[in-house]
Amino acid sequence: MRIDKFISEVGVASRKEAAKAAKRGGVLVDGIAVRDLSAHIDENRQTVTYLGRELTYNKYVYVMLNKPAGYVSATEDSRLPVVTELLSDELRKRELFPVGRLDRDTVGMMILTNNGPLAHDLLSPKHHVEKKYFFRASEPLPIGAEELFKSGVTLADGYECKEAGLSLDPDRKSGIITLTEGKYHQIKRMIASFDNAVIYLKRISFADIPLDADLAEGEWRYLSPEEEKLLLGGGKKNIL
Ligand code: URA
Repeated sequence: MRIDKFISEVGVASRKEAAKAAKRGGVLVDGIAVRDLSAHIDENRQTVTYLGRELTYNKYVYVMLNKPAGYVSATEDSRLPVVTELLSDELRKRELFPVGRLDRDTVGMMILTNNGPLAHDLLSPKHHVEKKYFFRASEPLPIGAEELFKSGVTLADGYECKEAGLSLDPDRKSGIITLTEGKYHQIKRMIASFDNAVIYLKRISFADIPLDADLAEGEWRYLSPEEEKLLLGGGKKNIL
């Protein structure tokens, strides 16, 4: 792989920035300064140091994004902005895609990766990956809603949801819902089954990884090694 491609894909600098740094002797391959970044290296055997930092090339990248309202959970859309537009140019070259979907008006925790097999596994119904949402409804939920969630809410089309968690705030209009499946508009349809409506929805965790409170809507960061471990393990299996 070209040295400048390697540096930009690791995500520490653009090719242009890397070229400038190389002119100043800031790019080393196996300890030797290189000025021509069009040269190729074997990224599995050679060591690249950028401004004193040794770089490691990971085939797969994992990112947490705080999705704002108005964005589609996709890599392209003919009309609307998509979540991958919120990533840096460097990161977009790594062809990340969102793991699962959030509705356009839903905000919060979204994982993006270029690890296709993992994303496929995490989304498979077999895996029961736990997702938590904070919601606000227009009316209070009735006494007994918690038990109904536990035994499985029936949606208007007759679909019987899997066991889900419901923990309500004292006003019973808001709280936390825990799901292990991801049907289309699931929470909105679960709440609609009580003749009620969701007026705000935010995913607050995915596979036991909480949304970082320091990430403003529209911001992203790489997952930490501990978070990557949780994701690769699909989170805890004994849920709710
Ligand atoms: N349930 C919904 O209704 N919408 C989402 O975006 C996620 C879960």
